[in-house]
Amino acid sequence: MSGPVLGGKVALVTGAARGIGAAIARLFHAEGAYVLLADLDETGGAVLAVELGERAAFQRLDVTQEGDWAAALAVTLARWGHLDVLVNNAGIIGRKTLLETEVADMEAHFRVNQLGVFLGMKAAAPALERAGGGAIVNLSSTAGLVARPGTFAYSATKWAVRGMTKAAAAELGPLGIRVNSIHPGIIETAMTADYSEESKRAALAGIPLKRMGSVEDVARLALHLASAASSYSTGCEFIVDGGLTVL
Ligand code: NAI
Repeated sequence: MSGPVLGGKVALVTGAARGIGAAIARLFHAEGAYVLLADLDETGGAVLAVELGERAAFQRLDVTQEGDWAAALAVTLARWGHLDVLVNNAGIIGRKTLLETEVADMEAHFRVNQLGVFLGMKAAAPALERAGGGAIVNLSSTAGLVARPGTFAYSATKWAVRGMTKAAAAELGPLGIRVNSIHPGIIETAMTADYSEESKRAALAGIPLKRMGSVEDVARLALHLASAASSYSTGCEFIVDGGLTVL
């Protein structure tokens, strides 16, 4: 009989205080992993860590700060001795067109969505290599696969996540580290809570499965990519969008 999918594995999940990151942390924990929940939001992160209990801890991490990454890695290794999985999930979204976007908007998106993923991969790769290999899962978006109007800076950085994933996969593969990107469509979280009823109806019209995604839909894909079930996949885009991008 096989045990839990991530039994004995150690995972660091960013943006784990709520939404997709929290669902990933919950599922990884339920599947036997030791999970470091990392987020700017100290209250949400700490509450979830207490709820999960044994094999979970919270660490305040601003993904844009290299020093915070060093501290998060140090805490993980001191607690559990190794690192097997990094999930770069933290992200921000602004709803502005190209012409509405200011330099400050571009810089803010760049720092969290792009620089944050780079810093995470750079900080984690040596530990993943020392563990004998591992997996990095980067949250991009369908906005990193196709163009849609109205989220210019977000789309730019989510395409960058897709590109960095492939570049990292090429370099880290020989070290036994797989790197893949997840491209969710429209998922029900705080990030999409500002949708009006009208924009929800319009969105559903473009989704063949006729529903918005749940955080668990995304978490199950992250589990697949973090586990040995995806042992020969690296540098790939994995879509979880109810068919949004086929139309
Ligand atoms: P959310 O807004 O509910 O949660 C994001 C989390 O990231 C929050 O807990 C927040 O505190 C944290 N965070 C933000 N900036 C941070 C920073 N500098 N350092 C550390 N943590 C930080 O977002 P959601 O919906 O759960 O999205 C998670 C990821 O999935 C994001 O990368 C997002 O772009 C991506 N995604 C979400 C979709 C959706 O429809 N909700 C669709 C496609 C992609």
